[in-house]
Amino acid sequence: MRIKKIFLGLAAGTLAALPAALWAAAPAGALQPANNDVSNQASLQRGARNFVNYCLGCHSARYVRYNRIAADLGLTEAQVEENLMFTGERVHDTMEIAMNREDAARWFGTVPPDLSLIARSRGTDYLYSFLKSFYLDPSRPTGVNNVVMPMTAMPHVLWDLQGYQQAVYEGETDASGNVEKRFKTLELAQPGTMSPQEFDQFVRDTVNFLDYIGEPMQLERRSLGLRVLAFLLVFFLFAYFLKKEYWKDVK
Ligand code: HEC
Repeated sequence: MRIKKIFLGLAAGTLAALPAALWAAAPAGALQPANNDVSNQASLQRGARNFVNYCLGCHSARYVRYNRIAADLGLTEAQVEENLMFTGERVHDTMEIAMNREDAARWFGTVPPDLSLIARSRGTDYLYSFLKSFYLDPSRPTGVNNVVMPMTAMPHVLWDLQGYQQAVYEGETDASGNVEKRFKTLELAQPGTMSPQEFDQFVRDTVNFLDYIGEPMQLERRSLGLRVLAFLLVFFLFAYFLKKEYWKDVK
């Protein structure tokens, strides 16, 4: 009895602490929900294409092999070679970049991080918001700044698609007459080739792909989990009726 109480107490304690832990894990600043879906294969295929065209120039994904992508995304190896590989790699190679680290450090002041696990370390909402939050800032060497990662060294590589955004501030005059500028929102200053909705979808697909490469097993894990639960349910019925049968004479 006592053991049961202790156990219940522990379970209740853990549940009570959970929201606090989740809250603490959320990065500061308002992030927009990515709403991506790793089981959407078409979205993953578009995301892979976006990634190799717009990110792989600077960022590697060195824990990911092209043939694994082919298998998971429902593509043949020939399709992957034709659409995702441009620099003479082999399908069993990982997604490396040609740029060497010293050059990168000289050009950007920092080395662009490998993106294999970025969705797990930063979260998908962060990535989605980060990629959408570049705005014009002439004081920066790249000409842009970012609301989600202020002073980032990453250029606005999606500018031709999104266009350029500018920050809108709201002023508040304090007692001594100084105006304190506070960031309010971003608005499109110069449109790109995509509409805002198309661009959102482009970023969502890209983030979806990053989410998938962060844990390729998750596609399998989910369907396996469901199958295991179904098995347990059926097994439970058998066990239950068997137990009834064995105990029916023992009163
Ligand atoms: C021209 C080179 C370049 C390209 C292309 C590029 N990035 Fe970056 N990226 C950088 C650099 C440099 C940094 C390091 C920024 C810093 O530390 O300030 C970075 C940082 C990042 C980060 C880390 C942010 C953080 O919080 O640490 C993410 C995520 C990212 N890039 C995603 C992408 C994605 C997705 C694409 C493709 C759409 C992309 N990048 C394309 C140069 C690039």
